[in-house]
Amino acid sequence: MKKFSAGLQELCILENDKIRVTRYSEFLLLYLENVDFTHETICDFGCGTGVLGIYAAKRGAKQVTGFDIDPAAIELSQKNIALNNCPHFETYLIEKNNPKEKYTIILSNPASLPTPKSEGKEFFSGGIYGIDMIKDLFDFCQTDLKQEGRVFFLQTSLSSINQAANYAHEKGFSYKIIGVFQTEIRDHYHEFWHQVEKNRNSGDAHYLEIKGVYSEIVYLVEAKHIPR
Ligand SMILES: C[S@@+](CC[C@H](N)C(=O)[O-])C[C@H]1O[C@@H](n2cnc3c(N)ncnc32)[C@H](O)[C@@H]1O
Repeated sequence: MKKFSAGLQELCILENDKIRVTRYSEFLLLYLENVDFTHETICDFGCGTGVLGIYAAKRGAKQVTGFDIDPAAIELSQKNIALNNCPHFETYLIEKNNPKEKYTIILSNPASLPTPKSEGKEFFSGGIYGIDMIKDLFDFCQTDLKQEGRVFFLQTSLSSINQAANYAHEKGFSYKIIGVFQTEIRDHYHEFWHQVEKNRNSGDAHYLEIKGVYSEIVYLVEAKHIPR
């Protein structure tokens, strides 16, 4: 179990080998301290452990709903919801026929590493440009985000920022980077590094190299409906 503080909130989150709280989520939680959740209707898209939704629920959100494609994430998030005593947070497997709700805030730390999707890689894989789940997020926002609603999500520089921003625009959303952090690239990225290099040549990935140490840049993005 991971115990940590996010602002004034104390969180206890159960993790397993596949589903954990990442450096990315901790960065998003830092920023979210500035957001007032009172009276808001929140969606945690790709809820994993449920950490983002639990944080929003503890900060006074009216109702929180989480979705994930991985049944193991639904099971784990429900244990974490009980552990953190958040009765207004429910999580569901994402399905075509999920009831259409309108949310005022959608939070997401999408799987966005540039590697093909396959079973067992749901947690981190975003397809070859790293943007498959970000596209799913914008498709979801088209039907489920209130007109005045906001989306906060993270995207690594190892995925295609341009393709994601263009997709958002096609779907009627702005794409505004409101925060950045730099973090060292870990060993397990070797498995798909050839794809990063390929995408870098086409401008669909970037990273820093300082004296042989590689870092990715993680962007915090705010998106809204573009007014018609
Ligand atoms: C990087 S993890 C983030 C988990 C958690 N939200 C957090 O911040 O720690 C991405 C999550 O999205 C889920 N996921 C992947 N593709 C998805 C999709 N197309 N729709 C919904 N959830 C998806 C994964 O199963 C995983 O739990």
